[in-house]
Amino acid sequence: MSNATVAVPSDDKRWKLVNATMRRNGFRPDALIETLHTIQESFGYLDDKALTYVSEALGVSPSQVYGVATFYHFFNLKPKGKHVCSVCTGTACYIKGSGALLEKIEEKYGIKAGGTTADSSLSLLTVRCVGACGLAPAVVIDSEVSGNQTIESTLSKLEEVLKS
Ligand code: FES
Repeated sequence: MSNATVAVPSDDKRWKLVNATMRRNGFRPDALIETLHTIQESFGYLDDKALTYVSEALGVSPSQVYGVATFYHFFNLKPKGKHVCSVCTGTACYIKGSGALLEKIEEKYGIKAGGTTADSSLSLLTVRCVGACGLAPAVVIDSEVSGNQTIESTLSKLEEVLKS
């Protein structure tokens, strides 16, 4: 049975987008694929925490959720890199220059969006909206959402994170 009152995994605003998809579908089990799509668009991948949450909220067994997530090639399970940088390419962020931001990161680390550096230190992803449009352009580094990003601020934050 679905349960609209299951607590979201964290106060990350992106869960609101995920919940909106489930709510729009009345928290019915047949919202599973659309919900997984929203998670992927917002977070860039589906990790165990997300799959468990969807299973509980939609009342679908964990094995069924995992089965769907692994069956379709367009769903990514956790990225390979130790650190993850997701650049928001949703409309608001794109208008504010996230395309150029993404290009600079690709150039500096020699990887394309969706890729991971050869030493597995960094995976670079794009996401469609992280729920921070008022702070566009937004970038998420290791689950921390930063708004009003410039090429300089993002590159320096990445350097700092990669040193840790
Ligand atoms: S479009 Fe980037 S946060 Fe919404």
